Amino acid sequence: MRALNPPIKNWAGKRVWLVGASSGIGAALAQALLAAGAWVTVSARRQEALLELAQPHPHAHVVAFDAGDAQAWPEAFERTLAAMGHIDLVVFGAARYDPTHSWELDLDQVQKSFDLNVVGVYRGVSHLVPYFLKRGQGGLAVIASISAYTGLPKAVIYGATKAALNNMAQTLYFELEPKGVSVYLINPGFVETPMTAVNDFEMPGLMKPAEAAKAIVAGFERGDFEIRFPRGFAGALRWISFLPDCWRFPLLHKITKL
Ligand SMILES: NC(=O)c1ccc[n+]([C@@H]2O[C@H](COP(=O)([O-])OP(=O)(O)OC[C@H]3O[C@@H](n4cnc5c(N)ncnc54)[C@H](OP(=O)(O)O)[C@@H]3O)[C@@H](O)[C@H]2O)c1
Repeated sequence: MRALNPPIKNWAGKRVWLVGASSGIGAALAQALLAAGAWVTVSARRQEALLELAQPHPHAHVVAFDAGDAQAWPEAFERTLAAMGHIDLVVFGAARYDPTHSWELDLDQVQKSFDLNVVGVYRGVSHLVPYFLKRGQGGLAVIASISAYTGLPKAVIYGATKAALNNMAQTLYFELEPKGVSVYLINPGFVETPMTAVNDFEMPGLMKPAEAAKAIVAGFERGDFEIRFPRGFAGALRWISFLPDCWRFPLLHKITKL
């Protein structure tokens, strides 16, 4: 099958902006890309954690900001440009996770989750798309989740935000790829990070952040559109999502014991 994006074969000197990189998958991705020779700007709210990550690397820069704050984006974008000279690829990974049953809904959590996980990406995209179109090149990567594939227990908020990103990324790809802008949809399964530390259930296929980063880098290098991992668990959930509803819901009840 042909690659859906131009494969990234050489990271040396590539300018990558990672939004949501003070811990977990984003921090591991920063380490992996720096080791491969990329220049990386790491962003998140916790400046101390970002500085600790960036400090040993001459080509790592820190731009701390709150991606949930619309006013903060223009300055963060300008500072990132100033730090690296230009931007080749941006990875949107800042998110919040409020595992919630349908009967426990807190509208404040709903609003904050959509504002950061979804509207936060639109905010970034609204700066990056005109910039990349002007350059005639660039890459946008959205970290969603395999929880986007089908309704799952306690994912009434989080899963819906990630499903929105799955749809958004497809339209971005459809419209921007012909104009020279690569678009990647990253759908991780369970990864052992501060985000999943709150989970009180078994997490099949649980990966370390470094393994997740390796899978993401491999996806960029193959030129995938969707970068899905781990292969077994994520593939199985994808397959389940295609089943007729009358089979899918009973199967999911059986698997999740809920
Ligand atoms: N772990 C998993 O199993 C899993 C599975 C599927 C998808 N994902 C997705 O992977 C991405 C990374 O998650 P993770 O698991 O690595 O969790 P994590 O370690 O908690 O990372 C979340 C990152 O987002 C940043 N962030 C949160 N709120 C922010 C805000 N308002 N402004 C700027 N940055 C903000 C956090 O930094 P600060 O707190 O310093 O701001 C942190 O760097 C998320 O999009 C998540 O939904 C994770």
